[in-house]
Amino acid sequence: METITISSKLNFPEHIIVDGIVFHCVKNQQGEQTFAALEKGRKIDQSPTYVQALLKGVSYRDLPLEIRINNKPFSRKVGTYYVPKYATIDELARFFDSVAPIYHKIVLTEATKAIISLLLRAVIPKDEDAATILDFGVGVGLSTEVVREEYSAKSIHLCGVDISSKMVAISKQKGIEAHKIDGFNTPFPNDYFDGVFASFVAHYLQSFEPFSEMCRVLKSRGVLAFNLRRPPENWQQHYKSKLEEVGFCNFSWCSGSIKLQSDGTVYPKGYPYTIVQVEKP
Ligand SMILES: C[S@@+](CC[C@H](N)C(=O)[O-])C[C@H]1O[C@@H](n2cnc3c(N)ncnc32)[C@H](O)[C@@H]1O
Repeated sequence: METITISSKLNFPEHIIVDGIVFHCVKNQQGEQTFAALEKGRKIDQSPTYVQALLKGVSYRDLPLEIRINNKPFSRKVGTYYVPKYATIDELARFFDSVAPIYHKIVLTEATKAIISLLLRAVIPKDEDAATILDFGVGVGLSTEVVREEYSAKSIHLCGVDISSKMVAISKQKGIEAHKIDGFNTPFPNDYFDGVFASFVAHYLQSFEPFSEMCRVLKSRGVLAFNLRRPPENWQQHYKSKLEEVGFCNFSWCSGSIKLQSDGTVYPKGYPYTIVQVEKP
C-alpha cells in the first residue's frame, strides 16, 4: 500500500483528500502518523503534491525534518519541499527539474538573495574592476539579480553550472552563461575563475569531488565561498580537513541570521546561515 509517514509533534487531520483520493491517517505507537491511499491503483508519485497538501498550513518552523514516502526517507531541503535522502544525481536532477518552475514561490527569495550577496562579497576581488565568477549550482540564476543590483559599477561575468536542465534554462533566460553539468567535471580550464561560490548547494553534495573541481578552475589567490543550512556536528574540522585535502587553504567561517520579511512571513528569530570561505594557494 502506498503511504506517507510523518513523524512530528503535530496532529494532522484524520483524513485528507488530494486529487480526489482520500488519505486516511493511522497513528502508530511511536506517535508517527501514516497517511495511506486506500484506493487501489492510485500511486503516490514522488512529486511533492501529496506532502504539500498534508503539510499545508503547518508553520515553516514546525515542519518535520524528515518524512517517509513508501518507507523511503525524504528530508526537508528546499523551502517546504522534501528531497530523497541520499538522492542520486539523477534523482536530484529530476527533483530540481520538477520544482524549477515554482522555485521562486517555494524559497524565501529575498533571504536567499541576501545570502548570495554575502557570498559574492566574499569571492569578488575587491581591487579589480572586472571579474569572472562561477555560480556552482546556479538554480534559477538569482545571483544575476544580486549582481545587477549591487555591482553595477563593476564588470562581473557570471557563469553557472547545474545538474537540472530546467534550472539552467531559466538561468539562461536571465542572461547567465549556464551549463547543464553535474559539477564533478566542468569544461572550464584550470585557473579560470576569479571567484567561485555555491549557495544552498553544499548540503546536496555527497562527496568532496565537486570541491576539488572548484579548486581546479579557481585562479591562485581566488576565493571559494559556500553556505551551509544546518552545519552538522563537528562540521568545522570535517570541512576544514576535506577542503585542505583537495587543495584549499585559509579556512574561515562565520554564522549569523538574516532578519527580513519575505513572502508575507516574518522570521522573528531570523534566517540562520553559516558561510565557509577558503582560498586557493
Ligand atoms: C537549493 S538549489 C540552490 C540554487 C541557487 N544556488 C540558489 O541559491 O537559489 C540547489 C541547486 O544545486 C544544484 N545541484 C545539486 N547538486 C549539484 C551538482 N553536483 N552539480 C551542479 N549542481 C548541483 C541543483 O540542481 C539546484 O539547482
